[in-house]
Amino acid sequence: MATDWRSYLQDHHAAHPGAVQEVLTRVRSGDHNPYRWLARAVPPSAHRVLDLACGGGAMLRELQAERRTVVGLDLSAAELAVARSHSEGPFVRADGVRLPFADGSLDVVTSVLGLLVIQPLDRAIHEITRVLRPGGALAVLAPSVWLMPPRELAEVTRLTRVLRTRPQFPNPVERTGVKALLAWHQLRRVEDKREVYFYTVQDEQDAARLVEALYLPGATDRRRDLAVEHLVHRVRKQGSVRIAVGMRRVVAIK
Ligand SMILES: C[S@@+](CC[C@H](N)C(=O)[O-])C[C@H]1O[C@@H](n2cnc3c(N)ncnc32)[C@H](O)[C@@H]1O
Repeated sequence: MATDWRSYLQDHHAAHPGAVQEVLTRVRSGDHNPYRWLARAVPPSAHRVLDLACGGGAMLRELQAERRTVVGLDLSAAELAVARSHSEGPFVRADGVRLPFADGSLDVVTSVLGLLVIQPLDRAIHEITRVLRPGGALAVLAPSVWLMPPRELAEVTRLTRVLRTRPQFPNPVERTGVKALLAWHQLRRVEDKREVYFYTVQDEQDAARLVEALYLPGATDRRRDLAVEHLVHRVRKQGSVRIAVGMRRVVAIK
């Protein structure tokens, strides 16, 4: 049966607000996590920045800079409550396909996994292009399934076997950031990079945090519990478990 993504996302984020950032702030590649990597793509001259689908607000904290206003926008009241408990915002509750900003009013729009969930994707990109000023930039992160090291790939395969499903997203993963799609909306892609991060599971809390953050519309609660048990069992056996998280950073200019 096809997933009713609108209801699924609403329920998932109401039940687990802040779960995505709990994982993404802990994944590492060298000296940074994905939020820091994306923030590095934002020029210091960007004064008016929107973080689209901001969730619990981790990206806003990374983007803070002098003479810069960063607005966080999300559809989920529960996610925005988490975001407000960490920083002042400003935050806006709105749908990503109807951005409450004037044409050409923003220097940069960032989004961590937002383009995977906002539907329809075309409409979201149209709106982003509308609110960016000429020369402004869209900088996004999307998951990347490429470059997964074989050992970590085997770990993910074991986990999905226990879950009897894999993490899913409303929009096709590899379509986000595609050059032709962006060009259709008058955005010129200037960067498309991939980086592999690692999430380390050392105890039951790490395992539960990971499973909680995943979109698993096909998994029962029992399967989720079994996935946590499976990870704890692997930790007991080998000390820790490393889960690879592939990320893709795409930057496009209007
Ligand atoms: C995968 S989470 C990423 C959250 C955040 N960027 C982070 O890194 O923690 C996706 C976010 O998109 C939000 N969302 C889903 N549909 C949306 C829509 N149509 N407009 C705005 N936000 C939406 C969800 O509430 C959720 O916070």
